[in-house]
Amino acid sequence: MRPESSLDDAELVSEDLRLRGAELTVVVPTYNECENVAALVGRLRSALGGVAWEVIFVDDASPDGTAERVRELALQDRRIRVIQRFGRRGLSSACVEGMLASAAPFLAVLDADLQHDERLLPAMLATLRGGAAEIVVGSRYVSGGGIGDWDRGRARLSRIGVRLSRILVPEDLKDPMSGFFMMHRGVFERSRERLSAIGFKLLADLFASHPSPLRFEELPYQFRPRNAGESKLDSVTAWDYAMLLLDKMVGHVVPVRFVSFSIVGVLGIAVHFAVLTPLLRIAHTRFTVAQAIAALCAMTFNFALNNLLTYRDARLRGWRWLRGWFLFVLACSIGGVMNVTVASFIFKSYGTWVIGALGGILVGSMWNYAVTKFFTWGRSGT
Ligand code: GDD
Ligand code: MN
Repeated sequence: MRPESSLDDAELVSEDLRLRGAELTVVVPTYNECENVAALVGRLRSALGGVAWEVIFVDDASPDGTAERVRELALQDRRIRVIQRFGRRGLSSACVEGMLASAAPFLAVLDADLQHDERLLPAMLATLRGGAAEIVVGSRYVSGGGIGDWDRGRARLSRIGVRLSRILVPEDLKDPMSGFFMMHRGVFERSRERLSAIGFKLLADLFASHPSPLRFEELPYQFRPRNAGESKLDSVTAWDYAMLLLDKMVGHVVPVRFVSFSIVGVLGIAVHFAVLTPLLRIAHTRFTVAQAIAALCAMTFNFALNNLLTYRDARLRGWRWLRGWFLFVLACSIGGVMNVTVASFIFKSYGTWVIGALGGILVGSMWNYAVTKFFTWGRSGT
């Protein structure tokens, strides 16, 4: 190594930039974005010249090898990092974890597929540094912004989402569905314990979770077409959004997963009768046998739907699906016995069958929820 005195001024500056922590962390959630990450890093380099930045990719064990690709890039440039999560999915929760791993005073979220215009980042940073706002939103719906080549269906869905979001965000925020924004670290820190972190809409979640109204600004950009790969937005994303809204409204009283679990449970009753009725009426099966078959069908239906909706972020596949199904049926059978025991007890003690039945259902379903949450889907927290 050369003695320090032989470094010239320019070298000293770059040496300093190299050692100093980042001022701006760009968090990029990824799922199957292998073909996009190198291009994105290239664009960040050219957009953020002169800024001490870093990028944290948060990858949910993409089967296409996104994380490995990022690690290759990280060996060339220490400003690049990757957090890899296993057995979990979720855009918002991924962003939250990326932010928790950063020390930078400014945090941005950017998609990996080049749809968000990274050239807006310096202007976003300047707005925050100037103190004009605590959070800056890349906006498609202010003058100068646009949604590019979205089809009419997607544009309409986005508009419905915006209208519903008014429960969470101020009226004058034009693009509350944006996935592209930058904020002071403090905004995140003051909100993080209240965040629902469900689904895709972290921005609306932040607005709803921050203890005081956020001072925001919107900067326009044109939403570009996706580079490589495909969108992860599907019909379950709409369910996630409904759960986010619900969590913000009633989450402090009842866990939103329990609400989802109960909705699925009620649908399961319909399945039960749809199986039971023809078995009794048409096939003339013995009642006990018919009831057992119907219960098994209903439990299987409930398991499959809970796996898809309630535990979308911890979804089981392949042989884990089978193991999960077995544990679910086992737990719910015990729950069924508890249901009948409690119901009979209330009925015998107080003589009211409606209260008895409801009490049995409540105890049984709470057992089912608590036990399958832990044993079937391996969740101990939320
Ligand atoms: N870690 C992780 N886990 N990342 C995910 C997941 C996930 O489960 N699902 C999606 N992503 C990543 C994608 O890899 C991509 O980098 C980014 O999140 C956005 O996902 P897309 O599938 O491309 O979403 P989109 O283009 O339909 O919608 C985006 O733009 C909208 C408009 O700004 C999202 O950012 C929306 O939230 C946003 O409303
Ligand atoms: Mn996209």
